[in-house]
Amino acid sequence: MNVLGIETSCDETGAAIVKDGRHLLSNVVASQAHLHARYGGVVPEVAARQHLEALVPVVEAALKEAGCRPQEVDAVGVTVGPGLPGSLLVGVNLAKALAYGWGRPLVAVNHLEAHVYANWLVEGFQPQFPALCLVVSGGHTDLVIMEGHGRFRALGRTRDDAAGEAFDKVARLLGLGFPGGPAIERRAQECPNPSLRLPRARLQGPFDFSFSGIKTHVARLLQGAYGPPPPTEEVAAAFQEAVVDVLVDRVVKAVRTHAVGQVLLSGGVAANSRLREELTRRSPVPVHAPPPFLCTDNGAMVAACAYFRLTELGETAPLDVDVQPGLRLG
Ligand code: KG4
Ligand code: ZN
Repeated sequence: MNVLGIETSCDETGAAIVKDGRHLLSNVVASQAHLHARYGGVVPEVAARQHLEALVPVVEAALKEAGCRPQEVDAVGVTVGPGLPGSLLVGVNLAKALAYGWGRPLVAVNHLEAHVYANWLVEGFQPQFPALCLVVSGGHTDLVIMEGHGRFRALGRTRDDAAGEAFDKVARLLGLGFPGGPAIERRAQECPNPSLRLPRARLQGPFDFSFSGIKTHVARLLQGAYGPPPPTEEVAAAFQEAVVDVLVDRVVKAVRTHAVGQVLLSGGVAANSRLREELTRRSPVPVHAPPPFLCTDNGAMVAACAYFRLTELGETAPLDVDVQPGLRLG
């Protein structure tokens, strides 16, 4: 079964063809990062207009790359939320038109759930339920138990900034550009053992996160509030260590208190090699993470998720399905 997955929730225009929910036939992503770079973050109106220009060519390229004719597409999956309303509308409306025109089922996909399903695209991956999912992206930081296909139970989430958002904001403070995650990771490599230690927020909820305090601390540090500011690479490395430490700490706690068989890491920040390394080192159960190109937004994860929604749960969406910008997971 070939599923076309469409992703336009934020600033990547993505389309992919995935066979049987596991095999990547094509995966085309047009990034808009260069358009948003000068603003230091995603500008919603710019993003929606750019999706409008890029989406049809991206879908055509995904079909071509997969060697798949429209009549060989068995279902259309699309991200309906969470995300930017204008951006979501572009993807959802094209998906509806294609599903209607081709006479194929439409499947509505939760973007956060799609991130988790990127793990199914890794060859040889075997799910073991219940699994603990850490979804860390530019918009979300969620710790969720996956009890089975489509069955999620939230344990905790960020109370302020998402981890990726904190990377982006701190990169901006350091003048490292946008998106901030990869820029901070590269710069931090120049300082493998930072002597600077940034404070970690402690919250009441044992599985909740908070990153705005670390960001404010960096801002004060750079203003000279605690003496002459340390070199950029040291701040970048200390910030990365602090975020990774908080994320890994909550995951390890959750693994110890819930009988989970594995940890599934996903979302743009899951591309971070320090996070992957530390989580693998400290987790009592096996950790799985997609390759970095499947951690950031893409259509393949949407297609994989749609396949399991359709085949395991028999779920399809009506053609008047609406976008759900505030959708949650669990
Ligand atoms: O999942 P994603 O592509 O979009 C959202 O759903 O938000 O995540 C994008 C976020 C950005 O904040 C970006 O800075 C962060 O993921 N990111 C990283 C890395 N690569 C991307 N953060 C830390 N280290 C990285 N290597
Ligand atoms: Zn995402």
